Amino acid sequence: MPVVALIGAQWGDEGKGHLVDLLASKARLVVRYGGGNNAGHTVVNHLGTFKLHLVPSGIFDPATVNVIGPGVVVNPEVLLSEIKDLEARAVSTAKLFVSERAHVIMPYHVMLDQLQEESRGEGKIGTTGRGIGPAYADKMSRTGIRVADLLHEETLLNRLRVVLEEKNRVLTRLYNAKPLSLHDTYLRYLDLGRQLSDHISNVHPIIHRALEKDFPVLLEGAQGSLLDVDHGTYPYVTSSPPGAAGACQGAGIGPTAISSVIGVLKAYTTRVGEGPFPSEIEGPEADVLRQIGMPWAEVGTTTGRLRRVGWFDAVMSRYAVQINGIDTLAITKLDVLDTLETIKVCVGYRLHETQLEYPPATVAVLSQVEPIYEELPGWQTPTSDIRRFQDMPEAAQAYVARLCQLVGARLGIISVGPGRDQTIVVNEVF
Ligand code: IMP
Repeated sequence: MPVVALIGAQWGDEGKGHLVDLLASKARLVVRYGGGNNAGHTVVNHLGTFKLHLVPSGIFDPATVNVIGPGVVVNPEVLLSEIKDLEARAVSTAKLFVSERAHVIMPYHVMLDQLQEESRGEGKIGTTGRGIGPAYADKMSRTGIRVADLLHEETLLNRLRVVLEEKNRVLTRLYNAKPLSLHDTYLRYLDLGRQLSDHISNVHPIIHRALEKDFPVLLEGAQGSLLDVDHGTYPYVTSSPPGAAGACQGAGIGPTAISSVIGVLKAYTTRVGEGPFPSEIEGPEADVLRQIGMPWAEVGTTTGRLRRVGWFDAVMSRYAVQINGIDTLAITKLDVLDTLETIKVCVGYRLHETQLEYPPATVAVLSQVEPIYEELPGWQTPTSDIRRFQDMPEAAQAYVARLCQLVGARLGIISVGPGRDQTIVVNEVF
């Protein structure tokens, strides 16, 4: 049964949207399973350049069904504006469904995310400020509002009455902020629910019929494994499980249904927000990797923040491969390294006199490790127009092969530019 989970294996921004767009043409169903509009997937295809935050990247193929699964936190205004933009650019959203079980990001979540960040001062996480953490916290505290609630006047009013009372107390007494009106919030979210109603569905039958019929299904990850709330660089993480286990939970399918887990890795590493980053580089060397002004520029799709950049970190990436059962790698943005004379790869960490093979669990220790580098020759040849592995410069082939060997998974796809066709498929996914 071809059910493929495509997940980020670094700190997000690995180029997942580009690959989902490519693979969606072969999938009958694409399910986004986690995160919210903290994600930003840039897709460049024959229709133009699109920046998606919630809508799955399979939307460009009219035959593909796209589902926003139960594990996602949905900001209805963002979703409606994305739908409107897509329709205005002649991309049909008729086959887009959002789960009734998904939780709603409410205005107090966004306010609290930003107020909490401010109050953290030096210890800030660098969140996207989109209300993601507070929305997931309410889900776990069982005080969340779900998409289905937006369609039931009485339920929405009753839940909102209880929740808003508590949120307003926190907003006014702890943060000195203005309270939200029950009346206005209720009417606004009822209206948003009405506007979204054609897309709201119990997605379970859609997903399970596709599994029963053996249709190719793509589970679209957002964020990256090193931002995982359990396995990432806590507390500098997001509030959801972006990996393969999160794919099962967030889509509502069992682990035995997944036939392959593809880990998306940039040929180097980037991170936005705060938190330890052992192979980080700064100065002019970093600017080469940032590619400012280029289509691949390392500027966050969601927040417009400059991404921190560094060398490929095989310790972190191997860990991501292990915790997710990644069998196949998609190595992206290889072309960004085209001009470099030599390229470093972090193959281990040194902590005082000890060499570490696994990332330590606490940021206090992780911040002290020294990366151990291996230096590989660059190829100093443009690769963006290459479409077959055997046509790649030898040094580029050797670089990619070394990454696969270090992290312990086979090579599936290489990407050498932002366009849908700028990919080299070494092992077919579907
Ligand atoms: P939050 O998810 O907005 O709570 O942010 C928590 C951390 O995850 C911050 O460091 C964010 O920059 C990071 N983050 C969240 N979503 C993404 C993403 O899609 N790409 C890269 N980093 C992300």
